[in-house]
Amino acid sequence: MNIKIDRYAVMGNPIAHSKSPQIHAAFAEQTGQALKYDAILVELQDFEQAVQRFQASGGKGLNITVPFKEAAWEFADQRSERAELAGAVNTLWFDEQGRCYAENTDGVGLVRDLTNNHACKIVEKRLLILGAGGAVRGVLEPLLKAAPLNCVIANRTVSKAEALAELFSGHGKLKASSYEALIGQSFDLIINGTSASLQGKLPPLPEGLLNKGGWCYDMMYANTATTFML
Ligand code: ATR
Repeated sequence: MNIKIDRYAVMGNPIAHSKSPQIHAAFAEQTGQALKYDAILVELQDFEQAVQRFQASGGKGLNITVPFKEAAWEFADQRSERAELAGAVNTLWFDEQGRCYAENTDGVGLVRDLTNNHACKIVEKRLLILGAGGAVRGVLEPLLKAAPLNCVIANRTVSKAEALAELFSGHGKLKASSYEALIGQSFDLIINGTSASLQGKLPPLPEGLLNKGGWCYDMMYANTATTFML
């Protein structure tokens, strides 16, 4: 008997650190799906062609990581409501007619991990988000829905933080900031959404930002603890 093996992949640059192939292989084992899940390194200018090649070769769907989440949003023929607002997606899949659909599960996953797995409360807490790229835009709506007291977005390029604060202003109490302007402020939960960890770097954060009993969370991961976690 021929067993049909579904092909999926994660695309990003860099990609070697991704645990998606192992994670999805574990899910497939639990659900009894015959699946092959590759990690594909995509050159920066080649995202669209790489997705088209994967689809043409029979691939069923992809998860997308740094720095292609906004390009994936652009690429999709149809987006969920949540994905539309996020402006960035981490999931693409194709139907039989070749249409490409997009979803963003980053924010819901982040909120669930914080609240269910780590028993970290977001409601009524002072929240600081570092970074203003696609990863942060993708998680803002679900984070604000969890009703923090207020939320500051700090970014190296402040204009990008300002643009996000404006875009999501209807969803919660939100303010943009430079890293320097954080001096003297403190927070209950600090989420790193910059890609600095992937370069072994840390945004220039002033001392004393974290309240006693507060939480830090790095949205980027590596095989060892990231600079942000240390
Ligand atoms: P992603 O899809 O992961 O968000 P991105 O859109 O390229 O990727 O955004 C990367 C984010 O990490 C940005 O907020 C970037 O800051 P700038 O907007 O100023 O570029 C931030 N970032 C990357 N390297 C950084 C570093 N070394 N220090 C501080 N911030 C950094």
